[in-house]
Amino acid sequence: MSDQAHSLRTPIVAVLGHVDHGKTSLLDKIRGSAVSDGEAGAITQHIGATAVPLDTISEMAGSLVQPSDFDLPGLLFIDTPGHHSFSTLRARGGALADIAILVVDVNDGFQPQTEEAIDILQRTGTPFVVAANKVDTTPGWNPVEDSPIKPSYDGQSDAARSRLDENLYELIGQLSDRDFSADFYWRVQNFRNNIGVVPCSALTGEGVPDILAVLMGLSQRFMKAEMEIDVEGPGEGTVLEVKDQQGFGATLDVVVYDGIIREGDTIVVGASNEPIVTEVRALLQPRPNAEIRVEKQFEQVDSVGAAAGVKIAAPDLDNAIAGAPVRVVRDRPEEDVVEEVKAE
Ligand code: GTP
Ligand code: MG
Repeated sequence: MSDQAHSLRTPIVAVLGHVDHGKTSLLDKIRGSAVSDGEAGAITQHIGATAVPLDTISEMAGSLVQPSDFDLPGLLFIDTPGHHSFSTLRARGGALADIAILVVDVNDGFQPQTEEAIDILQRTGTPFVVAANKVDTTPGWNPVEDSPIKPSYDGQSDAARSRLDENLYELIGQLSDRDFSADFYWRVQNFRNNIGVVPCSALTGEGVPDILAVLMGLSQRFMKAEMEIDVEGPGEGTVLEVKDQQGFGATLDVVVYDGIIREGDTIVVGASNEPIVTEVRALLQPRPNAEIRVEKQFEQVDSVGAAAGVKIAAPDLDNAIAGAPVRVVRDRPEEDVVEEVKAE
């Protein structure tokens, strides 16, 4: 294979944590949207996907992320629900992840779905950073909008800082109970052996530049070998949702995690009965920084490479199910791919 067929794919970042700890708000801050405000009952009930380009990341992170230091196109963020009844969706989101953000309300500390998220991260061996969220609710906190956390933290009154420290040390202790050695992220030298804890606020934006910087560092350092994939290979993905789209009938919202899907490709999709074999009629891509769950203005594209969220329009998708695999057939015998999908 030529060198050209190999390049780094977009890393997939899962956002995990207990209900209401601020996962969707943190993503809203990063992508500059207000998805959280529009959610029914104010809880997330589906897996989401948002492609955030490197430009947006470096703009948010300021001096902490220099685009020239990275050869990644950006990050694909996967939002997951924290409500206890959605454990299947959390596991599915965790399984897609290359790296993760564990969001913890710094006042609440570890809660049942925080523990569950840790189980998933341990099981899958996914590198992660801890977002110690809602620091702005610390009594006496003096917010510095969108600032890196260190100057903001250093500028607080002694009383506010020591209140926050108490919560942070509690969190570090809880991580240690789960066999993770963790510390304030600015003290962490080796992110393979230590978990970085980033104090932050999805509301005021402080600490968000730091989270992005750690994610970029984790991607660059640990994912490189795994992500030097054959970007031209047959596409593989997971169905997030089956949805009716005006003019197209039943469509699939899919996260493509490997290879490439092209218009006209024959695909095999897991279904409630036998796998569906069909042909891609249209690929509808959300705009950069848009959450696929709420996007209305999709752009029709010829092909989509990993990792990305895309809406697939094709005939006969009515029996497809969320969580099912999607595989492009390309140069392989169709029966083999059908067997592969059945086996998943
Ligand atoms: P689920 O998806 O249902 O698990 O919740 P979530 O983790 O996505 O939480 P969400 O982002 O919906 O936030 C829950 C509530 O906490 C909302 O009212 C947010 O406005 C609030 N919130 C989130 N982050 C912060 C923060 O940093 N500071 C403050 N003060 N409030 C926050
Ligand atoms: Mg949410």
